[in-house]
Amino acid sequence: MEVNKIMVIGAGQMGTGIAQVFAEAEFDVILYDLEEEIVKKGLNKIAKSFHRQVEKGKMTAARKEEVIKNISTSTLLQSAKNADLIIEAVIENIAVKSKVFKELDKTAPEHTILASNTSSLSITEIASATNRPEKVIGMHFMNPVPVMKLVEIIRGLETADIVYEVIEELTKKLNKVPVEVNDYPGFVSNRILMPMINEAIYTLFEGVATKEAIDEVMKLGMNHPMGPLTLADFIGLDTCLYIMETLHSGFGDDKYRPCPLLRKYVKAGRLGRKSGRGFYTYT
Ligand code: CAA
Ligand code: NAD
Repeated sequence: MEVNKIMVIGAGQMGTGIAQVFAEAEFDVILYDLEEEIVKKGLNKIAKSFHRQVEKGKMTAARKEEVIKNISTSTLLQSAKNADLIIEAVIENIAVKSKVFKELDKTAPEHTILASNTSSLSITEIASATNRPEKVIGMHFMNPVPVMKLVEIIRGLETADIVYEVIEELTKKLNKVPVEVNDYPGFVSNRILMPMINEAIYTLFEGVATKEAIDEVMKLGMNHPMGPLTLADFIGLDTCLYIMETLHSGFGDDKYRPCPLLRKYVKAGRLGRKSGRGFYTYT
């Protein structure tokens, strides 16, 4: 099972980060999204990230030009014909992900591994949309992908051992650390992180402190690099809400109930940094 050509589905925050790290590790990458404008914006974001590395003297300008050439863009799902590994990073919604996997399964060659970057959804359920559940796996990168070392790897019920081994090796080639976890709502990362973020939102909702005070307590008191409300804005409030809903319905316990303030912000289109406004305002 040789993996040379990667296709990334979704050119949002995570998809662009994933494309960037594979390109830097000398893989051929196809970055796919629904519209030309979105993939162009995604590629631009990657180019800017490389540009910052050049400015800091961490990458030469010549190397930047070489690495960026490893990425091509597409709005045609037919491009899946050329991929050995496809990593899906579309919105955190089971119906959307299942539809994407069904279509990919029809188009991609038989040997192609289909991975999902889902934060919380069942890999077994996503795999059931395909006729190749043994080649479906969770490959959960953390945000910002170029910086964070962890990749949570999740086997679905039918995931083949060889597929797990290929993904584990590939993660190491990206200079990241694979950690295997089981297929449970939110896996390990978001089962622990997201209730903390939700509790921080409840703390704001109940008027216990200002947003700045809540973030400051967790930054200075617990040595977190970002306060939980800043982190929620960074992740995306829509993604936070989808994850809390998965935990709530998956475990059936009210301790996972999404805070009404989180719902309200998402309804208002205040999605965090990506929309310019969440708990804080971004220019
Ligand atoms: N892309 C590429 N590189 C980035 C980056 C980005 N988006 N953001 C920061 N960096 C790099 C910077 O270039 C800098 O690199 P050098 O040290 O080589 O110069 C380095 O990261 C540190 O950046 P800064 O000095 O600008 O800022 P910082 O020290 O405040 O760090 C941070 C920024 C790494 C994002 C840090 O604030 C942090 O670790 N925050 C918490 C992130 C976190 O918890 N992520 C997990 C989210 S949950 C998740 O991902 C799972 C899910 O399913 C929701
Ligand atoms: P995002 O909103 O930044 O990007 C999602 C992208 O998917 C958009 O560009 C959108 O156009 C595209 N898209 C939507 N439907 C599509 C379809 N049918 N086909 C192709 N593209 C489609 O979201 P994100 O933050 O990049 O999150 C993507 C995935 O990664 C989610 O499953 C999320 O849970 C997971 N994740 C997010 C984070 C985070 O911190 N944001 C961290 C780890 C994992």
